[in-house]
Amino acid sequence: MSIAFCAENQVFSLTTAHHLYQMKLAEGGFLLHLYYGLKTDTDMSYRIHCTDRGFSGNPYEQRLNRGFSTDTLPQEYPCAGVGDYRAPALRVLSENGSRSVDLRYVCHAISQGRMSIPGLPFARTDGDTETLTVTLRDEVIGLEADLLYHVFPQKDMITRSVRLRNTGSGLLTLEKAASASLDFLCGSYDVLHFHGRHCMERLPERMHLQHGIFSCGSVRGMSSHQHNPFIVLCDPHATEQNGDCYGFMLMYSGNHLEEIEVSQTGSTRVVTGIHPDGFSWLLRPGEAFDTPEVMLSYSPDGLNGLSRQFHRMIRENVLAPQHRTAGRPILINSWEAAYFDFNAEKILQFARSAKELGVEMLVLDDGWFGKRDDDNSGLGDWYVNEKKLGCSMKELSDCIHAIGLQFGLWFEPEMISEDSDLYRAHPDWALCDPDRSPTMARNQLVLDMSRQDVVDYLYASMCHVLDNAVIEYVKWDFNRSIANCYSHGLPAAQQGETAHRFMLGTYRLLSRLLERYPSLLIEGCSGGGGRFDAGMLFYCPQIWCSDDSDAVERLEIQRGTSYGYPVSTMGAHVSAAPNHQTGRVTPLRTRGVVAQSGTFGYELNPGLLSETDKEEIRKQISDYHRYADLIACGDYYRLTELEDSPDLSAWMFVSGDRKEALVSIVITHVRANGPYPFVRLCGLAPKKVYRLEGTEKTCTGAALMHGGLPFVSPMGDYPAVQFHLTAEN
Ligand code: DGJ
Repeated sequence: MSIAFCAENQVFSLTTAHHLYQMKLAEGGFLLHLYYGLKTDTDMSYRIHCTDRGFSGNPYEQRLNRGFSTDTLPQEYPCAGVGDYRAPALRVLSENGSRSVDLRYVCHAISQGRMSIPGLPFARTDGDTETLTVTLRDEVIGLEADLLYHVFPQKDMITRSVRLRNTGSGLLTLEKAASASLDFLCGSYDVLHFHGRHCMERLPERMHLQHGIFSCGSVRGMSSHQHNPFIVLCDPHATEQNGDCYGFMLMYSGNHLEEIEVSQTGSTRVVTGIHPDGFSWLLRPGEAFDTPEVMLSYSPDGLNGLSRQFHRMIRENVLAPQHRTAGRPILINSWEAAYFDFNAEKILQFARSAKELGVEMLVLDDGWFGKRDDDNSGLGDWYVNEKKLGCSMKELSDCIHAIGLQFGLWFEPEMISEDSDLYRAHPDWALCDPDRSPTMARNQLVLDMSRQDVVDYLYASMCHVLDNAVIEYVKWDFNRSIANCYSHGLPAAQQGETAHRFMLGTYRLLSRLLERYPSLLIEGCSGGGGRFDAGMLFYCPQIWCSDDSDAVERLEIQRGTSYGYPVSTMGAHVSAAPNHQTGRVTPLRTRGVVAQSGTFGYELNPGLLSETDKEEIRKQISDYHRYADLIACGDYYRLTELEDSPDLSAWMFVSGDRKEALVSIVITHVRANGPYPFVRLCGLAPKKVYRLEGTEKTCTGAALMHGGLPFVSPMGDYPAVQFHLTAEN
């Protein structure tokens, strides 16, 4: 049993293989947070201080017990308006204008397994998953909250979400409904968050938390290039390999907010969930609202330790079961090879040349539908432009299959061009304020996915294309942030629901398509990595990591992404040199080594390759096949910290049985007469003796981890070195 309630002490204990999460029911039905960290096998109630503090008020029934204050006690789901002045998880507007909400314990239930969350992605169960539901209630307004805790013991993970129910008779409006809040009673922390921009996503930034609120999030209608919905709270001394780290990953692809507040008492609160800006949700009597799920994990083994826990959880509990292991096709994508300038013959030439190199799938990117010779028109018209192609999609896909490749196609379902038949027929299907010109981006508008008729249209038109050709893969793009988030299908009082209903519509469309085409591989994309989150990963096991395909820039992007997400989810391609985004020239080998740590593929015109390049690509592909399991399922370690090793980037994979490892190093600045290059390896078995392939050298794991691996840096710009290690004992 991983969930227990001790009636005598009124303590809930959630136990995973190594960790303990404890809560206490206090007098008056307040649910307090006691502890999250390494197992203690102890009732941690002694940690609660009840001291009288000026200006921290008391619940009415505790007015003579001035030490009991919602303002200072650690709360599991803090509510606004009733004396806790820290960031709340919940704010509710009642029909009479009151914004106070006071949730108290009613009952709880412990069950095996878990239920799904209606309309939202969630962590899939393991055999030993258990669920705790704690029901809290505000008697005055009749609001009930089911706090849901799902425990994944072997993963050292807990997921949380909340179901809010209006059991009263008045209208309630949710103004903020976070997925989880966690109070740390003591300790001083750093926050690590992942910021970025188009073409440079998920850069780690670490800062020390001080009094006040640190927050990051997105109000772009998408999880965004700018702030990923994953943050880490860590000990200021934590390194890649050591120290306490807590991760919070929201499984959601829309607007999100992460807040961390250090209070007057030195406690730290983390609140994460849907961004409250522009959000409101009308909850009529009898209705319920579900928040997205958040995954929580703790590791005493530094940032790498925490990353490995999230990698495993995402691979085994977020991705659909058929995508957990290696086996995704090595693809060639037409975008950087042709942009909008292609016809079937050109695509077939790519396919023939790529097949000779060992590529397994051809993906036809943007430009095959409606009127679409540039990015100003055609979105929404998902019918094949046979005039441009020179044949039907069936003929093209048949020819590609005859060459021996699988076939994939690009869509951008949630968008609409003003210059499209769809817009001319249904201008009200675009998100846009009444009487106001919309804000344009990439000269396109966003479809109102909150409308069922829009979702039905997209489903029917996509199915029509997918049914009429053999298509194994879809690239699902999303190329602008949302503005003018107004739905013509909702009344004025419910406009605050549009952004979340948009995400529910997108998830519904993805689910319906996957139900109909269970083996379809969908790669997420949003101008690269603008929607790289665990919500999308529930449907799309891989996401194009960035529109920046430059190998040197990708080192930073993929490294930053790896804090939360496994490499098997990162779309990564070898592209042409000079690179189209930076003009940088890198060796083909280096481009291969970098793309190999992702869902490997190519994005170049294979007809332009020299014989030497072709030989190198054949080798890259055979190496990728050889290491595919190790890369997709092995433990991943970042070996270099950017500040300490500005001249190189190194990472490695270790197999579960620690008998095999692959070390990759890219030297970003080769120096004349520079320092000896060394990397210290991680994750090996200390006593095993490893052979470094291609050399006569053998070394114990302990030596390689403590003494490091010396290597000779090749000359030239951005060279890469790889070591494949196999254990001899
Ligand atoms: C943005 C994507 O990230 C690119 O790979 C490409 O698919 C373009 N959109 C097409 O418009």
